[in-house]
Amino acid sequence: MKRKLLGTLLSVTMAVSLLAGCGSSGDSAPAANNNAGGNDAAPANTEAAAEPAAPAESQAEAPATTADGGKIGISMPTQSLERWNRDGAYLNDQFKAAGYETILTYSDNKSEQQVNDIQNMLAENVDLLIVAAIDGEALNMVMNEAADANVPVIAYDRLIMNDAVSYYVSFDNYTVGKLQGEFIVENLDLENAGDSVYNLEITAGDPADNNAGYFYHGAMDVLNPYIESGTLNVVSGQTDFDTVATEQWNTDTALERAQNILSSYYADGTQLDVWLCSNDSTALGVAQAITSDYAGSNSVLITGQDGDEANLKNIVDGIQTMTVYKNVSNESVVTLSLAQAILSGETIDESLLSSFDIECAYDTESYETSAGNKCPSFLLVPNVITKDNLQDLVDTGLYTMGEDGYLSATN
Ligand code: BGC
Repeated sequence: MKRKLLGTLLSVTMAVSLLAGCGSSGDSAPAANNNAGGNDAAPANTEAAAEPAAPAESQAEAPATTADGGKIGISMPTQSLERWNRDGAYLNDQFKAAGYETILTYSDNKSEQQVNDIQNMLAENVDLLIVAAIDGEALNMVMNEAADANVPVIAYDRLIMNDAVSYYVSFDNYTVGKLQGEFIVENLDLENAGDSVYNLEITAGDPADNNAGYFYHGAMDVLNPYIESGTLNVVSGQTDFDTVATEQWNTDTALERAQNILSSYYADGTQLDVWLCSNDSTALGVAQAITSDYAGSNSVLITGQDGDEANLKNIVDGIQTMTVYKNVSNESVVTLSLAQAILSGETIDESLLSSFDIECAYDTESYETSAGNKCPSFLLVPNVITKDNLQDLVDTGLYTMGEDGYLSATN
């Protein structure tokens, strides 16, 4: 594992996650993998999915004119979730700056559209595909087409369940959840809780996203012993992944479910202490429900992930407690190095880590694209951000802090 400083982001928590490394990511195969929703089978005739007027998100960016390095297809899931706008922009800029022609698409969170977008890229003779899947199990046909055309595929951030995927670049997803769980344990001092009981609710991510199960299990593996001992009490009784999952990571869906839980289980004055949310888009909905519908006056600990602007504002305002930050600019740098190595025919192994100054692990064990078929992975390290270390985000150069103390992303 290569050491790198993200500004001053090396916290104790981070050091712990570093030590845990990716060995822990493999411990817990998420149930989510087997529950991909069964929807979105790719249509046999992709034309059938064509819209009369293509929505804005399906528009590919005008290709750059420089093509020395080859042509890269970058397929992002949606612009409606904040981070993918950043990922798309960073990837696009970095590949262009390195002399590649790029095609960047967003697929409006519709799997059929993502299949179309990738097929169009293959028709444009891309040399390599970078894909952040909407549904990790719905891209089979187009992945097979990529394999037939000898086009290597980097699964970006979210794994795709198809053996045509050559490599995976992401963060240590299990550790993201583990950091959320550990944050709750430390902040409520559950180790020394004695007879105290803390009430917890849980909101997880999209079952179609292979990451969602890792986040959920990473957190629940930490929290389950306290649930079993009775120190944590899930008042709604809703704990299993399928029940707490949020289709498409949608803020309104998370908001609605949180409102239902608050009116059904907390309207009588029962105190809610903590709401585990897998990411910031779901945390935003939960925070909104708590602000408008929670009868209690205590502040509720809410977790998140990503560092979305609205959530960072909520952290400043004391409405959300923490977020697990993932530097997606670094994720795109690692992806560029990997793509360059693939395209120049280099052997891909741990030595690639020396081509960038980013804390990252090379992991050949934790992720499988099918039973027994391991996918070599480059996993970056996530960090805990709270009100107390927001300046660390500013130090990355990717955020500025206004006079009001709120952060804005620089891209
Ligand atoms: C990403 C998270 C993100 C979520 C929703 C996941 O696959 O890893 O960073 O919050 O998708 O966009």
